[in-house]
Amino acid sequence: MPFKLNGELKKRVEGVAFTGQLLWQKGWAEKNAGNLSLDVTDLARVKPSQLKAPTFRGHPGYPTPLAGRCFLVTGTGTRYRDIEKEPEQCLCLLRLSEKGIGYHVLWGGRKPGFKPTSELSSHLRMQHSLLQRGGKLKVVLHTHPNELIALTHLAETNSQEALNWALWGMIPEAKLFVPKGVGLVPYRLTGSEALAQATVGVLDQGYKVVLWEKHGALAVGADPGEAFDLVDAMNKAATLYLLCKHAGQNPQGLTREQIEEIGRTYPE
Ligand code: 13P
Ligand code: ZN
Repeated sequence: MPFKLNGELKKRVEGVAFTGQLLWQKGWAEKNAGNLSLDVTDLARVKPSQLKAPTFRGHPGYPTPLAGRCFLVTGTGTRYRDIEKEPEQCLCLLRLSEKGIGYHVLWGGRKPGFKPTSELSSHLRMQHSLLQRGGKLKVVLHTHPNELIALTHLAETNSQEALNWALWGMIPEAKLFVPKGVGLVPYRLTGSEALAQATVGVLDQGYKVVLWEKHGALAVGADPGEAFDLVDAMNKAATLYLLCKHAGQNPQGLTREQIEEIGRTYPE
């Protein structure tokens, strides 16, 4: 019997579709930009008969503790904005095999030639990192937020330290919502093993938002909305920074003391 989504899984698909619309409306999801994975292992009851050969696809490998886990994943080349009207074309529910060599597509993946996102390796390594952090964080969201990317092009904000002080200085909520700041990963080729490795190295330090230099952002959260909010807060700070620059001035920014006071008064 083919796998069917239960009510909870349907809600998760709707949540991903809603966030896809937000990302599109924000202008952070041109063409197929961005991708997402959501750990739904606790919600997917899979029968052995549903793990037959035709649904199996090979994969170069993933951390062994992920074997048997289930993820909703966007497809490579699919558009965030299309998920709402074509969820089964744009998303798939996959279950990683016990042997660490591939996965079964249980649901979705109906677009001809469908393959999960080209960033699947990064997603799976990040999902492993989240599992090790206790498993409450279930989603990895990748998007292309304009102003945050722009700041990684400017010499004055192209270091993690300078970038975080600049962002925190623009509005108290930047420090409130993202107290650890963003982790900055130097430019690496899209979809590469080097990018996956560098990303997980940063995430393992406890960051919830990672910026890929001159490419985009990743955020983790309990659900897609939570991950979206973190990028939104930091991109608002980046926008304010650039608005001041457009006005021909350097932003005054909150002082270090004011930012530290926020951190002390409202610890995470
Ligand atoms: P995919 O379409 O393969 O998910 O790639 C989009 C992207 O943003 C790559 O970084
Ligand atoms: Zn990207």
